[in-house]
Amino acid sequence: MDALKKKVLVARRAPAAVIERLAAHFEIDAVPDDRVLPPDELRARLQGKAGAYITGTERITAELLDACPDLRAVCTMSVGYNHIDLAACTARGVLVTNTPDVLTETTADFGFALLMATARRMSEGERLLRDGGWKSWAWDFLAGAEVHGTTLGILGMGRIGQAIARRGRFGFGMQVVYHNRSRLAADTEAELGARYLAKDELLRQADHLVLVLPYSAEAHHCIGAAEIALMKPTATLVNIARGGIVDEDALAAALRKRLIAAAGLDVFEGEPRVNPALLTLSNVVLTPHIASATLPTRQAMALLAADNLVAALTGAVPPTPLNP
Ligand code: DGY
Repeated sequence: MDALKKKVLVARRAPAAVIERLAAHFEIDAVPDDRVLPPDELRARLQGKAGAYITGTERITAELLDACPDLRAVCTMSVGYNHIDLAACTARGVLVTNTPDVLTETTADFGFALLMATARRMSEGERLLRDGGWKSWAWDFLAGAEVHGTTLGILGMGRIGQAIARRGRFGFGMQVVYHNRSRLAADTEAELGARYLAKDELLRQADHLVLVLPYSAEAHHCIGAAEIALMKPTATLVNIARGGIVDEDALAAALRKRLIAAAGLDVFEGEPRVNPALLTLSNVVLTPHIASATLPTRQAMALLAADNLVAALTGAVPPTPLNP
């Protein structure tokens, strides 16, 4: 053990290459398993640590920062950072980084796959088949919604939203409409063939609506009963952003009454717990927060988080800082 080495916490099981990279610079306290550290244990293990390698499940609050005054850098292996109080970190001089870019295309692939699975009733079909319910052919058997040539709505037009827009526009000949906090530059809109709409108009026009906006207090339940009521009864809703963006009780009620046709959800407000009302419905496809889950992408995210931590604690500029 090198007394001069800074100490860092690796708060979840991480790839061997991450441990190797961090061990070259730091004394590591590595959690060897996949459990989410309870807040008390996280606080205890952060004592005396200069840095933390975390994932989307470790909450970094102002209270925690005050209890861990040695902490100088928090590096999350996720693009989303709603689990980190960024303002509190900045106020205390704690550098925060995330892992954008390396997951964009993989996450967009999954978003599109979930849209397809939802519109074309794939999970429903597989469940029926496995349960012995496939008896014969019928002209309207498991008939779903068209995808090609329809209108793709995207709420949140950042990197992942734009990658989904490209798939829709150039792969499936869709008309792309979007809403975002700020409108894209005219040349980006032209390149994507994307048309900006007010949020309500987006809800009205989309045949398929994909949620890709970052989660914040402002975005909390920004899709609820009133918003769903504006959507087409034939529409599908896909959420690959954060569960709290959707009011799940309102969505479940709307799906039950067929106010919209179907939903595909990769994220949930209380995950890994899933709202029981959703579990009983046939017109919803549910996946366990895996939009970025391919091995190459997860490894790239993990190594980027490690590189960020090394840079942050060795006086270099981290590759992807959130509060430089
Ligand atoms: C992210 O990177 O934010 C994904 O949701 C995985 O946590």
